[in-house]
This record gives sequence, C-alpha cells and structure tokens, in this order.
Amino acid sequence: MNDRTTTSDIGLIGLAVMGQNLVLNMADHGFTVSVYNRTTSKMEDFIARCQAGEPSAERVIGHADLGAFVRSIKRPRKIVFLVKAGAGTDAAIAGCLPHLESGDIIIDGGNANWNDTIRREKELRAKGFEFIGSGVSGGELGARFGPSLMPGGSKKAWKSLEPIWRAIAAKVDPKTGEPLEDYAPGKPITKGEPCTAHIGAGGAGHYVKMVHNGIEYIDMQLICEAYMLMKTLLGMKPDKMSKVFEDWNAGDLDSYLIQITADILQQRDPARPKKFLVDSVLDTAGQKGTGKWTSVSALDLGIPANAIAEAVFARCLSALKEERVAASKKLKGPKDLKEIRGKKQLIESIHSALYCSKICAYAQGFQLMAEAQKEYDWKLDFGAIAQIWRGGCIIRARFLQKITEAYAADAELPNLMLAPYFRKALHKGQDAWRKVVSLAVRHGVPVPAFGSALAYYDGYRTAVLPANLLQAQRDYFGAHTYERTDEPRGKYFHVDWPEKDRPQLEM
Ligand code: 6PG
Repeated sequence: MNDRTTTSDIGLIGLAVMGQNLVLNMADHGFTVSVYNRTTSKMEDFIARCQAGEPSAERVIGHADLGAFVRSIKRPRKIVFLVKAGAGTDAAIAGCLPHLESGDIIIDGGNANWNDTIRREKELRAKGFEFIGSGVSGGELGARFGPSLMPGGSKKAWKSLEPIWRAIAAKVDPKTGEPLEDYAPGKPITKGEPCTAHIGAGGAGHYVKMVHNGIEYIDMQLICEAYMLMKTLLGMKPDKMSKVFEDWNAGDLDSYLIQITADILQQRDPARPKKFLVDSVLDTAGQKGTGKWTSVSALDLGIPANAIAEAVFARCLSALKEERVAASKKLKGPKDLKEIRGKKQLIESIHSALYCSKICAYAQGFQLMAEAQKEYDWKLDFGAIAQIWRGGCIIRARFLQKITEAYAADAELPNLMLAPYFRKALHKGQDAWRKVVSLAVRHGVPVPAFGSALAYYDGYRTAVLPANLLQAQRDYFGAHTYERTDEPRGKYFHVDWPEKDRPQLEM
C-alpha cells in the first residue's frame, strides 16, 4: 500500500496510540516516516485517518509487508519500536532482523526495563546492529506535539537519530526553562531548547525514564494525599478543591500533574451530571510496573527511596478494595476528635507539606540515579536530565528549573535537599509539613507519602541514628560485628554480649 519509491527518513513499528502520535509528530517536522503494524488493518486505518485530516499525511507511508517496510527506509536505517515492553519487544525485533543490514539502528521507545535494554544492546551489537533504548514520556499529547525523550545507547547511533529526536521533542525557553506549548497539527514549534539529550550508554535512557516514572508515582500520590486531607478533614467538594489546585498551579507547585488534577476535580460525571466524576471513580489504582522497578532498583543499590516505594505500596493497598471495605467495619479509628478550625491556614500547610515532600521525592530519585551511574558506569548529567523533564513529560514542572540550577551550581551535589534553594524551602515549610502529618495521624487519615518523605528528611539530617543499637543487636545474636565511634572506619569489633566482663576483640 502507498507504494512510493522515495526512501523514508525513519520507520516505526507499532501503531498504538503512542506510535501513531509519534509518527504524526515526525511527519509534521518534515520527516518521511514508513509505518508498519503486525495487524495490517491497524496500519490501514491509521493511513486513512492521516489522509482524512492530517496536514502531513503525505509523509506517512504505510506498509503491509515487513520486508518492503524495511527496504523503504534510508540507510543506516532507523526503526522505532513502540510495542509492548518485554517479550513483545524481543519478538518484534527478532521478526525484523532478517530484513536489516549491518549498521542499521533499532530504537526501542517503550517503557522497557533497563536490564532488557542492556541485554538487547549487547545481543544486537554482536550481530552488527546499533540499539538505542529511548524513554518517551508525555502520553498521547506529548508524543504528538513534543515528548520528553531520554535516549541511551552508543554515541554513534545517537548522532544518527539526534536530528529527528531534537526536532520532535518538547521545547523549552532556553533562558527561563518555560515550556513552549503553542503548537497545532502541521505547525510544530521549531524554536527553543529541545527536551532531549544523549543520556548515556546502554540502558541509561530507560533507567532515567524508569526513575521519571518512579517520581511520577510519588508526585501523584502526594497530590492524592493533599486531596484526601482536604476532603476528609475539611469536607471540601471537588470543585472547591479544584480551585485550590488551580491556585497552587500559579505558584511554585506549577506542574502538569497539578494542572490536570484541577481539571479532573471540576469534571462532572456524564452519567450523573449533578455529581463530580472523581466521586464515581473506584479507588483502586493500577500500575504497569515502572514504579516497582524503581523501588526494587533502590533496594538493590541500597538507596533510601522510601517515599517512592511508599507510593507503590499505596497503590497496592488501594487495590485491596474488598478487604479494606470489610476492615472499615471492624477496625476503629481515633475517637473524640476536635473540629478542625482555620481552613485557609490548613490548606496553606498542606501546600507546604506537598512542596517539601516533593523535594524529598526528587532528592531520592536523583540520589538513585547517582548510585546507578556508579553501578553501570554511566556519566549522567543531572542538570540536563532535569531540563529534559522540564517540558513534554508527565512530571514537567517549574520546580525542575530549580534542579537544573542546583546542579549547574554544584555538579557533585550529594543530595538535592542540600542545595541552597531547596534547603531554604524545607526550612520554611517544615513546621507546616509536620503539623499536617501530625494532624493526619491524629485523625486517622493515611498519608504514607507525606509521612515517609518527612521521615526521610529527618533521617537524612540526623547525625546519630539508632543504628548503633541495631548493630549491637546484630552482634549479640549473630556475631555480625560492629564499628566503634572512637576507632577508624573499617575496623570491626565483636563482644560476647551476655558476659559482661569479657574484653572487646578486634576482628
Ligand atoms: C509517561 C508515563 C507513561 C505511562 C506510565 C503509566 O511518561 O508518559 O509515565 O509511561 O503513563 O507508564 O504507568 P502506570 O500504568 O504504572 O501508572
């Protein structure tokens, strides 16, 4: 179908929502794109849709035959796969390989696990192909008008892909970092700084995209806890809360997720127009696994990303709907609660709790990436990563500009919380944050993310934690040894604990 002799700049396999929109984005930027889908009718429907109303339809070339699809692309060929992560990606790549030639570049734009990306790169390199694992964030609209793109792989492969990736990525004002979002089909934004850059070798791009998603989980959970507090403690209706989020979006919490929350909260239920839709949505959260991968990686690398993990567990707890409903009739909460006064002040405090917790969440995500780069021998530019997340992606936020600035001032920053801007914000907000967490605890309102972010802040700033006792316990029951405060690090001691007068033995 659409048999043309001109060769395409790039090919794309997998015409689900993200694939279709990415194709249109590339075509809008003047690239000719060959497209293929395992189910041919999907490709045909897409081509028909393009021809019915897309300004750049002539640059989208459909192929029903995989071999013809591959042959239609300029060499070295660049083929983007946007198929189901995991076995689906392996199968799609394997199907394509017999048609490819040495030096061709395979780009996986799905939410792949970085370990799979490392493996695929090695396997494909051994066969003479290049492989790029690229995080693509921004959902449907992002893919269409400017996603945030996180490519990992060899520099050589990146050089080949770079002009296309830079053209289609979201753009931000290079001075202010403000996203440039005035786009329309056929009229892409061509100025501004693109939200993409070479992240690093092998699985670096997919790792960073995974951490983006881990942060997305906690960002969303924090907003949900703010909503829950306003709903439960202040009895606020969705439209009133929508106004609060709208206000917050005009300040330092300005972000895509706060904006969509404001929109969601004023949406009426189409089935029952007097009601708000959010009240009819069942409170069980789904998840596809990237938040879990982030938390597992944090555990593997020994990084305390507790708030991110807490956001994953909060989704798990929400999924136990039937158990929770049954337990709500049996397990009692606190009694004799005083009425809450000072609504305006409490809303301001919730804002502070949200902002401070968000700082901790990002601190955890960046600390995790810092450890991962050691483990995998990547060289990550954290300022650039924050800049890439400034536009196009789900966690895009004004706040990220401050992260870019913090790393520009100190590339070796050990923890984001220590950067002067964030330190000041934490100092300013902590009283209100503590008040909100205490009030929630007092009233039996679950705020796992606010609480665990606060515990992280307090833990990180505590010079002496009770791990001295813990080490003593370990030594007591298992002779696991301990270090001493009055001896150099790395010298280990053991004592036979129950026998009081035994001397300490150096190990
Ligand atoms: C993005 C999103 C995208 C997807 C999440 C949803 O950056 O565009 O993160 O990748 O929406 O993976 O994940 P869950 O289904 O796990 O919430």
